[in-house]
Amino acid sequence: MFNIQPLNRFAGKAAAIKRPREIACFSYDENHQLHLDASSLKYYYPPRLPADLSAGYENFRNVEAAKPPDEHLIALLATIKNLEEKEGKKLEVDIVTWRGMMTKIMTAPFDRFNSCEMNATLYDGTIFIEEDRQTRVENEESQKRNLRHGVQPASFEMMSYWGYKFETLCVIPDTWDNVSREQIENRPNEQVSNYAQYCSVVRTGMGGTSLILGGEVDAIWDQKPDDPDAPINWVELKTNEEPYDQRSLEKFHRKLLKHWAQSFLLGVPKIIVGFRRRNILQHLEEIDVMSMPGKSKQFSQPGEWDGNTCINFAAAFLEFLKKTITSEGTWRISRKERDGTITVYKTSDKGHGDILSPEFVAWRQTL
Ligand code: A3P
Ligand code: MG
Ligand code: MG
Repeated sequence: MFNIQPLNRFAGKAAAIKRPREIACFSYDENHQLHLDASSLKYYYPPRLPADLSAGYENFRNVEAAKPPDEHLIALLATIKNLEEKEGKKLEVDIVTWRGMMTKIMTAPFDRFNSCEMNATLYDGTIFIEEDRQTRVENEESQKRNLRHGVQPASFEMMSYWGYKFETLCVIPDTWDNVSREQIENRPNEQVSNYAQYCSVVRTGMGGTSLILGGEVDAIWDQKPDDPDAPINWVELKTNEEPYDQRSLEKFHRKLLKHWAQSFLLGVPKIIVGFRRRNILQHLEEIDVMSMPGKSKQFSQPGEWDGNTCINFAAAFLEFLKKTITSEGTWRISRKERDGTITVYKTSDKGHGDILSPEFVAWRQTL
């Protein structure tokens, strides 16, 4: 069991952080088929304003509605295997997981409603952590029910569509000089789909723990630099209701905690917020990820969230994880809503559950 409180033990200067570096990437195409390349990378190009975010909802191609099978760590492990084949050696690292799992851990100190269930296993000196899909589906169902009971401007499905519509309005498939004016102008009429995705796989470090994280990135500002070690100008796209009073402004700055953690972990330097009034996109704001913790402090109630505390908390939790998950079998990492602790317990003495794909295990056995 790992206690979240008291938080003051995590305050102060942040633990050492290694700047995330992209070591590989993968894409899902329009059929949600996996490719170990950058084919679904998108480029940012500002949208025309104002814009109707509800337009085209009836034609939304929503991959979630097709209920794809549990993805476990399959794509991430395939990418790691591919890289290891190229380099002819194993990647030594403490933790392999999705960026979303680390976001959950980093934000746990300040997000009382954050709950998570993850499965973990130790293999070949590395702890692999996946999301427990069943719990995610249950959480989404209860989120939908809660929204139905509250006063909302639109259904859960429609509000989720607004986010994807915003992405469609903001991106182009190549650098602007390789895309026609017609294609750029036609974005409001394009079918919205979340089947295609680009995911960046990075190597990073927190305190004494090394990590490989995979996560989706929405777009790139310019283009990938020639120097593979240079930072990449990723852009994270977000929609938000235009704040209309002090309370809604504070709510927005509370939400920045999740956006900050999500972007920070992959080394995304900038988020672009599309502010909407109901379903109408009104204006854009570019926010530097590094400036977010300070900015939020300025606009929120004292003690709302603190970036250094998140980093130190995550670094300490990862140390705890390395001390706990030391034998064969599978483990559950669990935090319930409003719970002040994260619990880690064994769920099986043998095997790796479904966390590791057979292809990955077979590959490692040849090394
Ligand atoms: P917004 O964040 O603008 O609302 P991401 O921002 O992580 O790239 O996600 C893109 C969009 O996917 C979100 O846009 C939101 O519309 C939708 N989305 C993300 N997570 C979701 C979830 N758990 N349930 C429903 N929709 C979600
Ligand atoms: Mg995204
Ligand atoms: Mg986004």
